[in-house]
Amino acid sequence: MEIWFATFNKGKINEFRNLSQGLPLDLHLASEIATYSSPVEDADTFEANARIKAKSLRAIKDEAWVLAEDSGLEVDGLDKKPGVYSARYAGDNASDMENVAKVMKMLRIRSPKNRKARFICSLVAISPEGEEFVFNGSVEGEISQKVAGQTGFGYDPIFVPEGESKTFADLGPAFKNKVSHRSKAVRAFIEMLKDRL
Ligand code: IMP
Repeated sequence: MEIWFATFNKGKINEFRNLSQGLPLDLHLASEIATYSSPVEDADTFEANARIKAKSLRAIKDEAWVLAEDSGLEVDGLDKKPGVYSARYAGDNASDMENVAKVMKMLRIRSPKNRKARFICSLVAISPEGEEFVFNGSVEGEISQKVAGQTGFGYDPIFVPEGESKTFADLGPAFKNKVSHRSKAVRAFIEMLKDRL
């Protein structure tokens, strides 16, 4: 089964590959298409942004499955920011470490005690026939006091999932893939696909 994934984010790609291991999927990335460029993600929900990405790839690839996801971090003490702006919280083209540093700084200034947070993922899939499917996943946790850990990407070095004392970046990919927002959404997608294989 041919699937085209509308992302350039290596962290997301690696996680999807891990989660779909063993399935007869022929996974392709939007980066393989020279004429494809990422659309502007200007919606105010994860689902609407994922739909924008899925539709932009579907316009080029209409004979295969198309998959897109939008995800991010909501911090309660920051009024649910960075939210849909997670990738560019510290500015357009900001690095992961710049975004992490801004969350730590803003939380220190605005609400050092309320560190409750969650990752959210919305995944939109479009079948070759044009049917649209939406899968959502989230994981609750809190923002750590210190940046810690070497694995993962994005805000993993400051996110401690509920019931744990270490960050996702410290806990490692095997743990993250069991509980993460993305793994929940991707698993639901894979379950749906299995019925069609
Ligand atoms: P998107 O590519 O527009 O969906 O941006 C998602 C952004 O949210 C990423 O660049 C990260 O900053 C953040 N993010 C989403 N999922 C994760 C995750 O699993 N770990 C850490 N950061 C994440």
